[in-house]
Amino acid sequence: MLAGAVFAHTASAGDAANGRLLAYTCMGCHGIEGYRNAYPSYRVPKLGGQHEEYIVAALTAYRDNKRPHPTMQAQGASLSNQDFEDLGIYFQGSEAASDTANEDSIAGLDAARTCLACHAEGGAGVIPRPPTLSGQQQSYIEHALKQYRDGSRGGTVMSAFAASLSDEDITSLALFYSRRPGLYTPDKSE
Ligand code: HEC
Ligand code: HEC
Repeated sequence: MLAGAVFAHTASAGDAANGRLLAYTCMGCHGIEGYRNAYPSYRVPKLGGQHEEYIVAALTAYRDNKRPHPTMQAQGASLSNQDFEDLGIYFQGSEAASDTANEDSIAGLDAARTCLACHAEGGAGVIPRPPTLSGQQQSYIEHALKQYRDGSRGGTVMSAFAASLSDEDITSLALFYSRRPGLYTPDKSE
């Protein structure tokens, strides 16, 4: 599977084989199913199938101290932009997972309606391309939404959408997206 991923991306900016080598330390957390951040307690985000642009954007934000988290800020400090792209391609794999939620799948979950403009079918056309949420850890989605809501994750397009969410909305939205098929914990042996 990895060989296919490398081949499919030879024309892109990232080098998956180098990304795999660089990812060795990352796997100590991201390669362990259900691994937890110690405090506050939430599961580390799944990176398998996340698209490359978002992985690069997230790593850049940590390195530039625009996103809080001392461990992740330190992880990126010694890496180059090319390393970020290689890691992005490696974790994305041969095909990025997409959010495929739509009006039908959200059923009665009204709070999800505004999310559909971006984290849904066709959301890939939005710039910057939003991260895939489907299959993401429930507790991580909750943590992220609370950080956007209280402003501690910096000002991004998400601050506005999280501002009016109640704790109950956040729990329901996190449950909804985490249960959809999509992202996965990368396999250390691949
Ligand atoms: C000690 C555990 C640990 C290690 C090692 C680690 N991470 Fe992380 N990573 C985390 C945690 C915890 C978060 C969530 C931080 C937050 O709340 O913003 C995270 C977040 C991320 C995100 C953001 C994901 C998202 O959905 O927003 C990316 C990308 C990422 N890590 C990539 C890496 C890469 C690449 C490496 C190796 C160079 C690495 N991490 C090493 C624990 C770790
Ligand atoms: C206008 C497009 C847009 C809308 C609408 C939107 N988002 Fe986002 N979302 C984004 C973008 C872009 C990011 C990445 C921002 C960043 O870099 O922090 C993001 C990031 C996130 C993240 C962090 C994911 C991660 O891996 O770290 C979560 C969780 C999230 N959005 C949930 C939601 C929910 C739930 C809604 C509806 C209430 C919503 N978003 C509405 C564009 C959007």
